[in-house]
Amino acid sequence: MPEKVAVSPKQWLVAGPMHQWRFGVLTALVFVGMVVVWSVDGCTIKNFIQAWRLREDYISFKLNATVDLIQINQNLTLNTPNVHVSATQKLNQNDPNSFSPLPSLSQTQNYQTGTTNFSSNSSANLSQLQKRQSGNQISENLRWVSVELEPNLTSNLLARWLTPGGEPCKDSRTVEIAIRDLDGGKMVELSAGEIHEFYFQALDESGKPRCLGGDYFETDLSGGSWKSRPVVKDFGNGTYLLSLQVHPDFSGDYNLTVILLFRHFEGLKFSPPRFVYDRELRHIPIRFFRSKAKLPGLQICRKSDFTRDIWSGRWTRHGKNDDCRISQDGRYRCLAPDFPCQKPWCSGSLGSIESNGWVYSSHCSFRMFSANSAWKCLKNRWIFFWGDSNHVDTIRNMLNFVLNLPDIHSVPRRFDMNFSNPKDPSQSVRITSIFNGHWNETQNYQGLDSLTDEGFRNLLKKYFSEDTVPDSIIVNSGLHDGVHFHSIRAFSRAAEYAASFWEEVMESIKHRGLRVPQIFYRSTVATGGYARSLAFNPNKMEAFNGVFLDKLKQAGLVSGVIDNFDMTFPWHFDNRCNDGVHYGRAPLKMKWRDGEIGHQYFVDVMLAHVLLNALCAQ
Ligand SMILES: *[C@@H]1O[C@H](CO)[C@@H](O)[C@H](O)[C@H]1NC(C)=O
Ligand SMILES: *[C@@H]1O[C@H](CO)[C@@H](O)[C@H](O)[C@H]1NC(C)=O
Ligand SMILES: *[C@@H]1O[C@H](CO)[C@@H](O)[C@H](O)[C@H]1NC(C)=O
Ligand SMILES: *[C@@H]1O[C@H](CO)[C@@H](O)[C@H](O)[C@H]1NC(C)=O
Ligand SMILES: *[C@@H]1O[C@H](CO)[C@@H](O)[C@H](O)[C@H]1NC(C)=O
Ligand SMILES: *[C@@H]1O[C@H](CO)[C@@H](O)[C@H](O)[C@H]1NC(C)=O
Ligand SMILES: *[C@@H]1O[C@H](CO)[C@@H](O)[C@H](O)[C@H]1NC(C)=O
Ligand SMILES: *[C@@H]1O[C@H](CO)[C@@H](O)[C@H](O)[C@H]1NC(C)=O
Ligand SMILES: *[C@@H]1O[C@H](CO)[C@@H](O)[C@H](O)[C@H]1NC(C)=O
Ligand SMILES: *[C@@H]1O[C@H](CO)[C@@H](O)[C@H](O)[C@H]1NC(C)=O
Repeated sequence: MPEKVAVSPKQWLVAGPMHQWRFGVLTALVFVGMVVVWSVDGCTIKNFIQAWRLREDYISFKLNATVDLIQINQNLTLNTPNVHVSATQKLNQNDPNSFSPLPSLSQTQNYQTGTTNFSSNSSANLSQLQKRQSGNQISENLRWVSVELEPNLTSNLLARWLTPGGEPCKDSRTVEIAIRDLDGGKMVELSAGEIHEFYFQALDESGKPRCLGGDYFETDLSGGSWKSRPVVKDFGNGTYLLSLQVHPDFSGDYNLTVILLFRHFEGLKFSPPRFVYDRELRHIPIRFFRSKAKLPGLQICRKSDFTRDIWSGRWTRHGKNDDCRISQDGRYRCLAPDFPCQKPWCSGSLGSIESNGWVYSSHCSFRMFSANSAWKCLKNRWIFFWGDSNHVDTIRNMLNFVLNLPDIHSVPRRFDMNFSNPKDPSQSVRITSIFNGHWNETQNYQGLDSLTDEGFRNLLKKYFSEDTVPDSIIVNSGLHDGVHFHSIRAFSRAAEYAASFWEEVMESIKHRGLRVPQIFYRSTVATGGYARSLAFNPNKMEAFNGVFLDKLKQAGLVSGVIDNFDMTFPWHFDNRCNDGVHYGRAPLKMKWRDGEIGHQYFVDVMLAHVLLNALCAQ
């Protein structure tokens, strides 16, 4: 059996002995997978190997701690690092004439040896900035860039995808783009604060414009202390619109990167690895110069802020320790735990998320919770999670990093537990989490179709049929759906069914005169690195996020949205902060997927705080 499959010896070289060891154990399962994949897809060996490799991602999580030992003993590369899971205002009040880089950020103290004061050496040449400043009259009333969920998203998406071809400009394939106002090789200089819009045109291999849309571009606008995903609007006719914006406090040097990941909706297909394009089309240096522009001040998120369906935020950096080393327990304690947030980008202790100074904010900014404030908010509550293994990680991270329960090394895929504050046992919270990747908690890749199982539906209903019911539900879905569903249409039917199921559950609660839980939709991650080409690639996950949210909203179920897709996107280009499909694997001082020791888990710790913001907002 192994001989027949291992047609690509390179795979095994890359995979290393650990894989071979696993292979023996998993052969039977893999064989089943192979038969299924081959019969539905008639795919190539390459596809099979890819399918197998991603299958393995999940399977390996179920291996118990012995795997750790074997790996350590053999000094092997740890490809899937966590094997614990068991059975399982005013923004800018600076003097506009002051041009020092990030003036409001330069006052941080040295909290510990090795912590450098924040400084951005990427800032533009001051004399140039001053010159531009005087020559530019810029509107004082600016807005933040924003995106909205398209009405009738599912039907419009299908309609665009199914637009008939028949003309060369429709049947050709995109290989290049032309961005009239950015191409040309000159240093691009733009004013910070303003939204700069650039039209670009998709071109085929002979340089002719395409006249259908649906290409999936990954965009990135990054500088030393700012990371964001610029918005791309698809007009459906081969023309796209790119919007760039940087806050004036972060003026300086940036790179705009544009990658064409998939052409014409091909990422939405059942077997995207066959179609992935993944070429970097642009890497353009851009200088954002400081202007008099003032953006509306960010406020700490209130309850009403969570009604925004799609976020268009950014990560900003407010501290940095270049000498930071991973500790024995796999943690990056780069700044002191009480290293403070910089207003208005967050409030509380920035050091607590162990991000070496990075923090996410969106149309509002987030409070970093202390253990005390988190317990105060959660006490006597019952939070119900329904989603994939990313929930498992986030819950553990919330317990470990925020709620001061470091000894909980893992939580299973399904559990119902009460946790108490070690410092004040009168404060406790009930957390229930039910995995929705499959109705059988040890299996995978069924996604929302897990609800076709009556036993699974009854299991879920049970938690909502007692005298008390959860006060909040946090829902996600996507990764398993990406593998399971053959088409957007099939996924949209399952999403509709899921919405009607939860609608019925909520109705029964209402009829019993109980308070109906608030439901937060937490969009799924932008899968990272190697996983960008697979069945749960970002193109498909973004579409699935939209379709499921659309259905839940139509059923009137959504009290709030947490856009984890936008939060993870700036970190999804490689595997430094994710193993492809998880951003919150437990800290571990071992080789990570990319061959480096350790991995950065802060993106998920940030999410834990954002969830608390949503749960506790007034
Ligand atoms: C781990 O797995 C091995 C073999 O699969 C088994 O013998 C052992 O009891 C398991 N240990 C735990 C702690 O589950
Ligand atoms: C393998 O690990 C052991 C124990 O951790 C260590 O003593 C040894 O030096 C390592 N060997 C290599 C080749 O890294
Ligand atoms: C950091 O800033 C403080 C106050 O501005 C200054 O006293 C200190 O020398 C600076 N430290 C470093 C490492 O630059
Ligand atoms: C910034 O530039 C100054 C002077 O050129 C240099 O001394 C300092 O080390 C640089 N800091 C960083 C973080 O690169
Ligand atoms: C800054 O710009 C001025 C004028 O363009 C130039 O003369 C000077 O050399 C530049 N300085 C640096 C450090 O680039
Ligand atoms: C959405 O679909 C409904 C029914 O198909 C239609 O009546 C409505 O006009 C559509 N709205 C938009 C904005 O396309
Ligand atoms: C595509 O549509 C947009 C918006 O309707 C329009 O501005 C643009 O000119 C169109 N592009 C082409 C090539 O027709
Ligand atoms: C822009 O990209 C270049 C090449 O990849 C890199 O050397 C440079 O540091 C980047 N600049 C910024 C501001 O990130
Ligand atoms: C958690 O606490 C609640 C209320 O105190 C109780 O009804 C429930 O049975 C407890 N659950 C577990 C798993 O202990
Ligand atoms: C769940 O799947 C496992 C195999 O992965 C199987 O052994 C078990 O019987 C299944 N459980 C149920 C309830 O069907």
